[in-house]
Amino acid sequence: PRSIYLSRHGESQFNVEGKIGDSLLSPNGEKYMHALPALIKDNIGDAPLTVWTSTLRRTIQTASELNYPKLTWKSLDELDAGVCDAMTYEEIEQAYPDDFANRNEDKFNYRYRGGESYRDVVVRLEPVIMELERQENILIIGHQAILRCLYAYFHHLPQVDLPYIKIPLHTKLTPKAYGCDEERCIILS
Ligand code: G3H
Repeated sequence: PRSIYLSRHGESQFNVEGKIGDSLLSPNGEKYMHALPALIKDNIGDAPLTVWTSTLRRTIQTASELNYPKLTWKSLDELDAGVCDAMTYEEIEQAYPDDFANRNEDKFNYRYRGGESYRDVVVRLEPVIMELERQENILIIGHQAILRCLYAYFHHLPQVDLPYIKIPLHTKLTPKAYGCDEERCIILS
């Protein structure tokens, strides 16, 4: 069977600061970047693989040491937090308390001011999913919200649960496999 591997980017400087948005990798994230080629090799051996990233720095940097054909997709960019980009959740709660409450109330449908909702992301991922269905082994180095949507699609999880699926950063380098019949969708974490 062919496999779809999902991995988040390595820990970024913004992850360390508790901010949402794009930045380069932290020292920990760079360790993950260096470890990734061997991690992949251990899991897929010499099977052919194509690596997809977003257009954001933290995924491109994470993939930078991988020797496979690569493709960057704008549609794989992280959920756009609009005016809240580069803020911490505490700052968001202070600056936009009503929005913060609304998001907790209905995280799937809440759309950031000037940004996106999970529902918006699901729609923009449609072409990515169509292309994924036609491909062989793919590794996606992506973002938490994006991987939640893809994972929920392949595992038929309900929309209300989708925004809460845990997609860890590189806490340990062992893959967790979730068997499907025809194809496997695996989270590398
Ligand atoms: O903004 C990017 C985060 O990875 C998504 O997390 O939807 O749980 O706030 P959140």
